[in-house]
Amino acid sequence: MINEQLENLRKEALTEIKKIKDSDTFKKLKIKYLGRKGQLSLILRDLKKFAQAERPKMGSLANEIKEEITKAFEHLEKSVKKNLGKTTSYDITLPAKRMLLGHLHPLSQIETELEDLMVSLGFKIIDGPELESDYYNFIAVNVPLAHPARDMQDTFFVEDYKFSNQDKELEEQYRLVLRTQTSATQVRCIEQFGAPLRVISHGRVFRYEATDARHETTFDQLEGLMIDKEISVVNLIAYLKIIVRQLFNREIKLRVRPGYFPFVEPGMEVDLECLICQGRGCPVCKKTGWVEMLGCGLVHPNVIKAGGLDPAKWSGFAFGIGITRLAMIKFGINDIRLFNNGDLRFINQF
Ligand code: FA5
Repeated sequence: MINEQLENLRKEALTEIKKIKDSDTFKKLKIKYLGRKGQLSLILRDLKKFAQAERPKMGSLANEIKEEITKAFEHLEKSVKKNLGKTTSYDITLPAKRMLLGHLHPLSQIETELEDLMVSLGFKIIDGPELESDYYNFIAVNVPLAHPARDMQDTFFVEDYKFSNQDKELEEQYRLVLRTQTSATQVRCIEQFGAPLRVISHGRVFRYEATDARHETTFDQLEGLMIDKEISVVNLIAYLKIIVRQLFNREIKLRVRPGYFPFVEPGMEVDLECLICQGRGCPVCKKTGWVEMLGCGLVHPNVIKAGGLDPAKWSGFAFGIGITRLAMIKFGINDIRLFNNGDLRFINQF
């Protein structure tokens, strides 16, 4: 009989403990089952009524149940304490955590700015492949195989190409190079869009260079090409002045020198006053006060012909700006190698 009472008590207590939802019920039930005048104590008090021989057995059952109920209370208490700090309410008036946002790389900033400007001047933006054929990178722009001008741009050739064609010359024309200049897009554009034509294309170019403060093996260029009737150097210089004024928000001194590029005639190189040292002389301007910024000129008749147009009817200008150099001058960066080294301390300054 007392055994049955004890077992019922065990069942009832454990079920009730499982349902506890607040501290008041916890306290009440603890007193109800384990208190001095609690149910377990009452049952144990009745033990005296039983024969001496039976008491130890019942006492040990009562202790076992007492221990089990005590543990159930302790377990509940521990899990409540563990979850105490974990509040599920939120203060929606608190300021939100700041999100880390990325931003455009300084080169992309300049390129986007130039894209907007050139589009406003009626130029189309096109893209060319970085892995280019020898044909478009050199031959189409009037630099035939074995022409000495190839030495001006040391090139990364891709060895692993194969043609079934046995024609050696054809094979050489179509071997792949990492493009050395965005001028590689010139004949692609003329072929595709014909004339009149106003396009820009920009992106990475690659050269086998000994790197220093202003030379990189991977840098960005922006090519501009205009084909129309009676284009002259005056048109070219006027556009270059607009670009520079827009980028720097003021007049910047340009220096125009004759320069040789097989794909233009006449050809010119344009320098910008060095804003890094304000003309005093630094490693970037090689102590001259000027930084070589771009090559340009009037499109060579052979290039117009390679694009499928008649050079007697059409003329044009082209320029290739070293965007990475331009970014150095615009942002006052004194070493070109910082652009590609991935150091966030550098990138986060822009
Ligand atoms: C050319 O690449 C010609 N394609 C430019 C051109 C286009 C001429 C259209 C005529 C008509 P050049 O090798 O000079 O030219 O390079 C052009 C610009 O790229 C340079 O003025 C310079 O600003 C930049 N540049 C050249 N080599 C490097 C280099 N290793 N690292 C960083 N910038 C460079």
